[in-house]
Formats: sequence, C-alpha cells, structure tokens
Amino acid sequence: MVLNGKRILLIISGGIAAYKSLDLIRRLRERGAEVRPIMTKAAQEFITPLAVGALSSGHVYADLFSREDEQDVGHIRLARDCDLVLVAPATANLMAKIANGLADDLASTVLLATDRPVLLAPAMNPKMWAAAPTRRNVETLKGDGITLIGPMAGEMAESNEAGVGRMAEPLQIVDAVIGMLDDGAKPLKGRTAIVTSGPTHEPIDPVRYIANRSSGKQGHAIAAALARLGADVTLISGPVTIPDPAGVTTVHVERAEEMLEAVTRHLPADIAVMVAAVADWRVAASSGQKIKKQPGEAPAPLALTENPDILKTVGHHQKRPKLVVGFAAETENVEANGRAKLARKGADMIVANDVSPESGVMGGNRNRVKIISAEGIDEWPDLAKDDVAERLAALIAQRLD
Ligand code: CTP
Repeated sequence: MVLNGKRILLIISGGIAAYKSLDLIRRLRERGAEVRPIMTKAAQEFITPLAVGALSSGHVYADLFSREDEQDVGHIRLARDCDLVLVAPATANLMAKIANGLADDLASTVLLATDRPVLLAPAMNPKMWAAAPTRRNVETLKGDGITLIGPMAGEMAESNEAGVGRMAEPLQIVDAVIGMLDDGAKPLKGRTAIVTSGPTHEPIDPVRYIANRSSGKQGHAIAAALARLGADVTLISGPVTIPDPAGVTTVHVERAEEMLEAVTRHLPADIAVMVAAVADWRVAASSGQKIKKQPGEAPAPLALTENPDILKTVGHHQKRPKLVVGFAAETENVEANGRAKLARKGADMIVANDVSPESGVMGGNRNRVKIISAEGIDEWPDLAKDDVAERLAALIAQRLD
C-alpha cells in the first residue's frame, strides 16, 4: 500500500467540511497510513471525538493542557512524531494563526512546533477566502513552505452561495498526501545542488556600488523547485529584497569574488545552476573612504577590472558537478549568443532569455526562455518564473536519471 508505515498527524479545525474528514481518515488508513487526530474546540461542535477516535482507532488529542496527554506524548513530540501534518479542514482562523505564529491551543502550538511538511486543505465561505487578510495569509504560508490543496469551486454546504471555498474532496487530499510523501515524486532525493541568484554589488567606495537590475526571482524559484523534488539545495544569493526560499540553505554574498568563493566552497555537488547576474567588472581599486568631489574638477575615472567567471570556473572545475546549467541574458541574437556561451563556459545546458527592456524579464514575474544544449534548442512559451523553475527542475531530474 502506497502509504504503508506513513504517519499522518491530522488536524481537524472547526468548519462544516469537518464531516468530510471522517471519510478522509478512512481513505488514508485504507492506503496503509497511520492517522493521529487532533481536534480544535470548534471542530468538536461539528463532529464528535468519539467518531474521529473510532475511525482512526486511537486516541484523539484536543487539549494543550491535558496532563495525561502531555505526560504520555507531549505536544512537541506530537508535532514531530509523524511524516506529515495535514490540516483538513483548515479554517480562515487557523490559517491566520499559523501565518502569524500564534500558539494558543494544541493545534496551533503543534503547527508552530513542527519540522515536518505541512499540507492545508482550506475550507471557508468564498467571501472569507477572497478577503484581503486571507489573501495575505495564503501568500505568507506559501512563502513559509506550506503546501495548500484547494479550496475548490462549487456550492457551499451551509448556504446557497457558490464560489471558491469548498474543501477538496478526501481522495484529492489523499493524492496530495501521496505526492508529498512518495519518494517517487522526489527524483532528486540524495542529490546536492548549488544555485546562484540575484545581482552582485561591486563597491566603488563605502557608499557607492555598481549593480544591475536582477531581482533574484528566477534563481530563488529554481532553488525552491529543486528542493521540492528532494534535492539538498544551497542557494548563493547576491543582495536581493525577496525572502529566502523555504527548504533551502541560503548563503548571502555581495561581490562576485565572494560568490565564487561561496560556490567553490560548496563543491562537490551533483547539480549547479548559475542564475546570478554576476557583474562582469569590478572597480580596480575601490576606495576605503568616500570619494569626494573636487569643486571645478572633472570626476576621477573609474578604472574597472574583470570579475572571475563563476559559471566558467564551475564548468571546468576538477570537482565539476554532473550537470552544469547556465543562463544567458541577452538583448539580441539570443540563440547564437546562447550557443556560444554553452561551449565557452563548459555548461551542459544554457537557459537563454531576452532581457531587453521590452521583454520585462528583469525584475518581472514572467520569463520566456530557450533551452540550449548539445541536443538542440527547445523553445518554451511565455511562463511565470515559478513555472519556468518547475519545468527546469523536472528537466534536470530527467537529465540526471
Ligand atoms: N556568469 C558567472 N560569472 C560571471 C558572469 C556570468 O557565473 N562573472 C554566469 C551567469 O550566472 C550566467 C552565465 O554566466 O549563468 C551567462 O551570463 P551572462 O551575463 O549572460 O553572460 P556573460 O558571461 O556576462 O557574457 P556577455 O557579457 O558576453 O553576455
């Protein structure tokens, strides 16, 4: 059975969809999973602990301050003694608590304390799902590495309203659980990856620097996508304003030379994806003091010197990763320049994109890329950067297989 030996901590919060959680317990157990239930106080207004206990054939946890439960298992062990924490239904209230780190009952405390993957199946009125605070909380939860399934569109159980808010069906939730726990869905398990992302800042003096328009969005999304496929990912990021991705070890650097040092320090690795827009030049002799303007005099010329090429170094390194992927940021002749970079840098694959101002790629959320390798060129459609990342991670897994 596909979920044999897997332990699911099922948190049931208080919504009418809780009646579906009874079926969910059965479906999970049918596939071999062990289900340990926690109910919030509100959940007990909709279904009884007796029913939940009978179906899961075990103890139902409900009280943070239960002396017996605390002596027996304890909330910290409860949070970690499982392979996955599933919240179904997840109410708007519980989601708000998780997004803000509140811990005022057993369910929210366990969710704050857990280091296991968390899957939420939201269920609420469509207006509550669409409300601005819920939108913000959903973004925060996703940013924290929490997975959501649903809600789905359809009729609401409690009213004549229709819209997005229905809890996903038990079998859909079971599929999502399998997707998260099945090692077959983690083709990069046991592999290590280094990803560079963002720009570099090259100091002119203590207050000024040379930079470029890279936001880090594409590189960070690739790091997160590789991690979702099971890779152990180190992200070496230049200065960016976006958060560190969940499930990834992030190293922050400023200059190209620091980035190169961090990358080589993390070799060997199975995969290298060099997405950073590394500054090609740095100031030859950056000043230790702020450069002052001299009234009436022309500014001192800025002498530049070439930065190390990180991708080229990795592509020709004695500890060269099995798969080296580079990017090519071009404003013209995308294909020809991409092919030339493939050879020059010793890469297995170049992801070429048009970064001319009209494309809106630099700093934007979408990207249109061409994948260039010895096998030829594959043109991908215009996609969200997250989707480019997803597809690239899958392609990397396939190449390594
Ligand atoms: N790259 C790098 N180190 C550098 C410059 C670039 O690792 N000093 C990497 C980038 O991360 C990217 C690839 O090389 O994966 C191509 O970067 P790009 O800026 O497109 O090319 P350049 O090497 O700078 O070449 P050109 O200036 O001719 O476009």
